[in-house]
Amino acid sequence: MVDLSKFQASGLETCFHDRHIEPQIYAGLDGSNWRLKDYEARGGYQALRKILAAEGGMTPDQVVAEVKASGLRGRGGAGFPTGLKWSFMPRALPVQKYLVCNSDEGEPGTCKDRDILRYNPHIVIEGMIIAAYAMGISVGYNYIHGEIFEVYERFEAALEEARAAGYLGDHILGSKHSFQLYAHHGFGAYICGEETALLESLEGKKGQPRFKPPFPASFGLYGKPTTINNTETFAAVPWIIRNGGQAYLECGKPNNGGTKIFSMVGDVQRPGNYEIPMGTSFAKLLELAGGVKGGRKLKAVIPGGSSAPVLPASVMMDCTMDYDSISKAGSMLGSGAVIVMDETRCMVKSLLRLSYFYSHESCGQCTPCREGTGWLWRLVNRIEHGEGRADDLALLDNVAENIMGRTICALGDAAAMPVRGMLKHFRDEFAYHVEHKTCMVPAYV
Ligand SMILES: Cc1cc2nc3c(=O)[nH]c(=O)nc-3n(C[C@H](O)[C@H](O)[C@H](O)COP(=O)(O)O)c2cc1C
Repeated sequence: MVDLSKFQASGLETCFHDRHIEPQIYAGLDGSNWRLKDYEARGGYQALRKILAAEGGMTPDQVVAEVKASGLRGRGGAGFPTGLKWSFMPRALPVQKYLVCNSDEGEPGTCKDRDILRYNPHIVIEGMIIAAYAMGISVGYNYIHGEIFEVYERFEAALEEARAAGYLGDHILGSKHSFQLYAHHGFGAYICGEETALLESLEGKKGQPRFKPPFPASFGLYGKPTTINNTETFAAVPWIIRNGGQAYLECGKPNNGGTKIFSMVGDVQRPGNYEIPMGTSFAKLLELAGGVKGGRKLKAVIPGGSSAPVLPASVMMDCTMDYDSISKAGSMLGSGAVIVMDETRCMVKSLLRLSYFYSHESCGQCTPCREGTGWLWRLVNRIEHGEGRADDLALLDNVAENIMGRTICALGDAAAMPVRGMLKHFRDEFAYHVEHKTCMVPAYV
């Protein structure tokens, strides 16, 4: 088990300060010190200076190699190795190439990217400039969720500062590297977080996912090679370059490098964003968030945003917070939103809320998702309201199974996985609802 106090005493705290955000946990970032001068005082833009140094700088290949060595995996949900993704970009191809930051953050429970942009916008800008250098890209966009205006405005203000200081634009810091970065305000649809729907939206079209292949690395924005990463992924890069990939890897555990920001939401005493080393026990994370609200008993946890399968308390308490441990337990680390549910939660009612969300957010392009998410919602709705039929649980299984893997994007899977997780671990509650036309959880009787 990771001993956090030891980590902090050994200097990793600096890494927390640099990367984060959560004023309650890591002193130094309180919403008033997001400006360029504050970021520079914390060592900001040193990583960029390091790679662009006329003597002893780093080549693009060296930057990619360092990111590979760090074990950094994409923080947007799928956990794809970032260095490997960067190596797919055909750097030498003499065409326009694009870099895109995915700050759409629509997954219920997730609220980390907006805090990074709110409290530490320059860390994302620096990460993107370094990524652009590594992949030979000259133009980038940050696609920011359409419903969070002040974060968009703050990012715009930070961009202005970076341009004025010579960190963005032509010949950055007198080097040959030029990079133009723009903020783009999205439209507030969950589907626009899916990378190809995001690209469509960025092009001014309806945000609907594209068929893959071709993947964005060969056919992305405006049909040109494009690399898309999550906000937190880019925010990890400056620390990696300053301290080395190996040091980052060692913050976490093998195959799960570094720290990760978890949004602790639901029934916890102190909801918020917590940055901890990968591989920290869930029990420790829960403790940092003040434990279960009101001292009640933990019932279940959705460990990676609402599309991740739910895990019962007994399973979750044995997990560490990293991709491999959560996946072994039968769920996903996903976007890192940890939805904590106490003993008073009715699983049928909880699933009803989730199913409504996915039905509402389906873009309607694929029949299994468009029709299937509506079916799931109606089925759970009638079970919740005492109108469930004897074969409804089998029907729920069947509809979920017929959505999984049969759609252009993973929104279909995201709608089906919560259903499967709930039926796997809490089937008795659903059966009770069907049989007794009421809930077995005392608080809801
Ligand atoms: C329906 C749906 C919604 C998504 N929403 C987001 C999102 O809000 N932010 C994000 O970074 N990735 C989101 N993703 C994942 C992206 O498609 C993509 O994998 C990610 O941005 C890649 O960045 P990473 O490698 O740094 O994780 C979503 C995927 C799906 C299927």
